This record gives sequence, C-alpha cells and structure tokens, in this order.
Amino acid sequence: MKRTNYAGLIDEQYIGQEVDLAGWVAKRRDLGNLVFVDLRDREGILQLVFSQEFGPDALALAEQMRSEYVIRVHGKVVARDAQAINNKMKTGKVEVEISEAEILNKSKTPPFDIVDGVDATEDTKLKYRYLDLRRPEMQKGLRTRAQIVKSVHHYLDDHDFIEMETPDLTKSTPEGARDYIVPSRVYPGSFYALPQSPQLFKQLLMGAGFDKYYQLARCFRDEDLRGDRQPEFTQIDIETSFLDQKQIQDITEGVIAQVMHDEKGIDVQTPFRRITWQEAQDRFGSDKPDVRFGMELTDLSDLFQDSPFKVFSGAIADGGQVKAICVPGAAEKYSRKHIDEQQEYIKRFGAKGLAWVKVTDDGFTGPVAKFLGDQSAALAKRLDAHSGDLILFVAASKKIVADSLGYLRTHFAKEMDMIPEDEYAFLWVVDWPLFEYDEGAQRWVPAHHPFTMPNEEDIPLLDSDPYKAHAQSYDIVLNGYELGGGSIRIHNEDIQWKMLKALGFTKERAYAQFGFLLDAMQYGFPPMGGLAIGLDRFAMLLSHRDNIRDVIAFPKNSKATDPMTSAPQPVTPEQLDELGVEVESKYRHN
Ligand code: AMO
Ligand code: AMP
Repeated sequence: MKRTNYAGLIDEQYIGQEVDLAGWVAKRRDLGNLVFVDLRDREGILQLVFSQEFGPDALALAEQMRSEYVIRVHGKVVARDAQAINNKMKTGKVEVEISEAEILNKSKTPPFDIVDGVDATEDTKLKYRYLDLRRPEMQKGLRTRAQIVKSVHHYLDDHDFIEMETPDLTKSTPEGARDYIVPSRVYPGSFYALPQSPQLFKQLLMGAGFDKYYQLARCFRDEDLRGDRQPEFTQIDIETSFLDQKQIQDITEGVIAQVMHDEKGIDVQTPFRRITWQEAQDRFGSDKPDVRFGMELTDLSDLFQDSPFKVFSGAIADGGQVKAICVPGAAEKYSRKHIDEQQEYIKRFGAKGLAWVKVTDDGFTGPVAKFLGDQSAALAKRLDAHSGDLILFVAASKKIVADSLGYLRTHFAKEMDMIPEDEYAFLWVVDWPLFEYDEGAQRWVPAHHPFTMPNEEDIPLLDSDPYKAHAQSYDIVLNGYELGGGSIRIHNEDIQWKMLKALGFTKERAYAQFGFLLDAMQYGFPPMGGLAIGLDRFAMLLSHRDNIRDVIAFPKNSKATDPMTSAPQPVTPEQLDELGVEVESKYRHN
C-alpha cells in the first residue's frame, strides 16, 4: 500500500475511487459488526467504515484500534447516506469503505483529547507539544505562518532584495531588552550576546554596498513575557540604501499585500492610512490604535476648566486634561461594580479615578452627574451621546489620560462586540518622538533605537533641546498590535555621536559598545533605512489567535521555560569549569 491521497482532502469528487490513506485514529465508534473510525492527517479528518462486508480482516483490526493509533488503509470512497451528511466538514459528504488495513503503531492514551478547543493546562499542552500540534487549529496556524514566509520570499526575491544571514553569536544590540548571553569556552570570562535584532549588521551590509537586504531573522530578548512576546521570535527584517521613508513604507505595503492576497485572498487597499504618533495618542490613547471601530477620546478640558467639580478643574489647573469616551448602548449592561473594577484596573496607569455617567432620556445619572449639571447639554453634543450610552471620564496628565482611556476604549469595544473580527486594519503611525522618558530607569531612552535619524529640521535640536526632537521612524500597526517598526538610520558619525551623547554615553562607552559601527560610518556610509515585521505576530493575527505561542512550533511558556525539554537546565560542573563560570551556591542544584 502506498499513500495516494491526504484523507482530509477527500470529498465528493472522489466518489467511486479507490484510495490508500495513512494517519491517526481521531475517534472510533464500535457498533459491533460495523466500526466507524475518524482518520486524521495534516489536511483534516475523514470517516472510514469497517464491516464484515467490505473487509473481514480489516474489521478485526478496527476492533483493536484506539485513539492516536497510526494506521494505513485501503478502500473505496462512497457517498454518505443523506441523514449522515455533515456540511461543516470538507469530507462530510463522503466516507471510505475499508477493504484492507494495517496498524503501523500503537499509542498510549493521550493526556488530553486531540480536538480543537481542548481543555488542558497550557503546561500540559506544551509538555506534549507534538500531540497538541496534531490538533487541526494548530496545524492551521503553523501553515498560515509557512504561507507568510513563502509570500515574503516571493515578493522580496522578485523585488531585487538579497537574502543574507547575520550571526547569532555576537555582541549586544540595544533594542531595549536584556540580552541572552553565551559564555565563551575559548575565552573564559568573555561572553557572546544573542542578537535582539540584526540591526547593526544590516546597517553594515548597507555600508558594504548590498543596497537591498532581507532576512527571516531569529531575535532573542530577555524581557517580561506577554501574549504577543516570546523570548525568541522571528522578524521579517529589511534594510535598503538611498530610499526615503515613504519608499520603504511602499515596499512594506507590497510585502503585506502579497501576504494578504496569498493567504487570505484579500486585496488590501494601499497606501495604508497614516497618522502621526501625536494624533494616535490624542484620538485613540495608544501608539498602536485599533481603528476597526470608533469611540475616539474626546477632549473636554475647555468645558471643565472653571468647573466647581474640583476633580476635573484641579487636574486641568495642574497642566493635565479631562477626556472622555462614550460607549454606545452600554448603560444598561454595566453595574457600578464592573465600572469600579475598571477604575481599580486603570490605577496601574496612574489614574486616580474613573468618573462616569449614564445617559437617560431625562439627562445624566450616576454619582458625578450632579457635578456636570451645567455642562450636560454641551457634553452630550460633543460626545454625540444618546440615551442608553455610558460616558467614562478621566482627569489627569496627558499620558495617564491617554493610557487609561486608550485601555478602556478597547476593553469596552470588546465587551460590547463593537469590533468587526474579519477586518484587517493596517495603519502607519509616523513622526514619533526621538526619545521617551523611562520612568522606571529615570532616564531618557530612544523611542525606537539609538541609530534612528531625527527629522531633518530637528537635527539642530540634538545640540539645544534633544528630547523635543522627532524621528524619521514609523510603526506598522494591525488591529491594535504593533506589527512592525523601522526608521531611517543615522549614517553620519557626527549625528550618531550627538544621539549617543543625548542618551548619556561617554565617548569611551560608546566606542566600547558600538566602536565598529562608528568606525564604519567614517568610510562612506550611504543613507539607509528599513524595518522589521514580527512574523509571529503577523501569523497570530491572520490566524485569529491571541497568543503568539499558537503559531510557533516549540514556544516557551509564560515563565520562559519549555515544559517539554525542561530547558533551561543546570549543566555539569565539568562544563562550568571549562567555561570558567561559577554558579552561586544558592543556585546550585547539586
Ligand atoms: P522592534 O524592536 O520594534 O524593531 O521589533 C520589530 C518587531 O518585532 C516584533 N517583536 C516581537 N515579537 C515577538 N516577541 C517579542 N519579544 C518581540 N519583540 C519585537 C514586533 C515588532 O514590531 N531593529 C528594529 C527594526 C528596524 O528598525 O529595522 C527592531 O528590532 O512585531
Ligand atoms: P471623589 O470626590 O474623589 O470621591 O471623586 C468623585 C468621583 O470622581 C468618583 O466617582 C471618582 O471615581 C471620580 N474621580 C476621582 N478622581 C478622578 C480622576 N482623576 N479622573 C476621573 N474621575 C475621577
């Protein structure tokens, strides 16, 4: 028997044909002289029928089959009886009458059912990742990922990009996370860093004259994990010489359009919408807004600056603002308790409170309604509020207002089912600040990375007022996620040096860390720019999953460990010895 077809692709076109199939037993129903087996392979599930009539030996084997046994069968495709048709499955109109069968391997009872939407803990599923990956929805996500990769190669190869590799054992690249480091055996006491991105190498490749580079690059970042972050992930990494930001964005749109066409059959509209970083903050309270729905933030500061409600007028007097969102039709659904929970939640952004009113035919109700009396009509008009709506106000500094209302906007949009799930809203966020203040570290850090070119007219600010400068950087956003980001790079040593100075680098430290780049800039560096798209995030969004783990074959769990291999693990004393590395006694395992 040689396999002739994938089981999951057999449909009514095959009726009457003899087929040889192989795969796993997904389910077995034993009716005595008739046994039904659902056969699963990478393309889907197909119903097999065993009976005395079609094959007595095969029937005898079917009696022994259990879930996840690996089998091979030969049989004839027939139409199902009308009452047995399942229109939800590609194979739902047919079944295969089995004349010959073979059990290729047995299986222990799996620790969880291999079906979509299975209820098992994340760690159990990761421990038995090869079983979890047998589930059709997991196969689908990884196939989507593979299709994206294929389309990216296709498009960039066709547009004269040269695929190149850069090292994994290298020196720290500052993308803002902690490095994973690898001890050197040959030079005990010295360490390689795994790259947080190929940033410096791709700039050097432009210096080397390659002009258009791309790579599907593995990146490593030791940072707090979230649903859209893994410690190792893959970037679609692009760099070009002599192009401006618009031209680089056009190429990116080309890549994305190719992917959307090939994977989703959607011809996306280009050019994508563009908004400035400031506008994104003001209107959506986010630098990666989900623009599939409205509910924008409305500034009410002018209405409240003289208000007797001190919570509002006080915040404005302190240099802050009062803004609100109006959630259509939400008044009835939400109790004070739910809103109080949200008030508690936004404290993490620094908000002191969350004021709210419900709109009724007779005006506003709720605890702060009495303070808004005079402004009610003006407010309702500006917010376009109608009876049945819920209005949420935050009074605080600009940043706290944006973070809090930005979060509430997406929270309530999800709760109220306001988001059209099938839409793909791509958006460029442009004109970023060059620096941002890191409250935790209490210092200025690059908003993108330290090699980003300021806006032409802001270059003089590097000498006078660097933190006011804006940058030639851009993010591509999809449905509220940062899909990718890039910038025009500094190609001039003098500007690069000023940038590093503004970040607090001394000349010695700058040379110790990026001397090779600063040197290279002295040998005719071309103007250059590029970007990187997160492949994992792209695959996650196109697969409608909410964790990038689902589109990575062997990911880490939320604690950055792998329950299947148990990595990371202690190593032997001999290995440590060879590396000249000593582990503190409190961390020793033996
Ligand atoms: P940046 O740091 O913005 O830029 O990263 C680019 C894109 O990579 C993805 N990404 C991640 N995906 C999964 N897990 C992570 N931990 C993670 N971190 C980042 C995101 C992000 O938009 N060198 C620059 C690019 C450039 O300027 O060309 C860079 O790495 O989708
Ligand atoms: P208070 O007078 O402090 O009890 O606040 C009255 C109402 O205003 C309560 O519902 C608070 O949740 C809300 N509130 C307090 N501070 C703020 C703020 N900074 N922004 C929005 N609402 C607030």
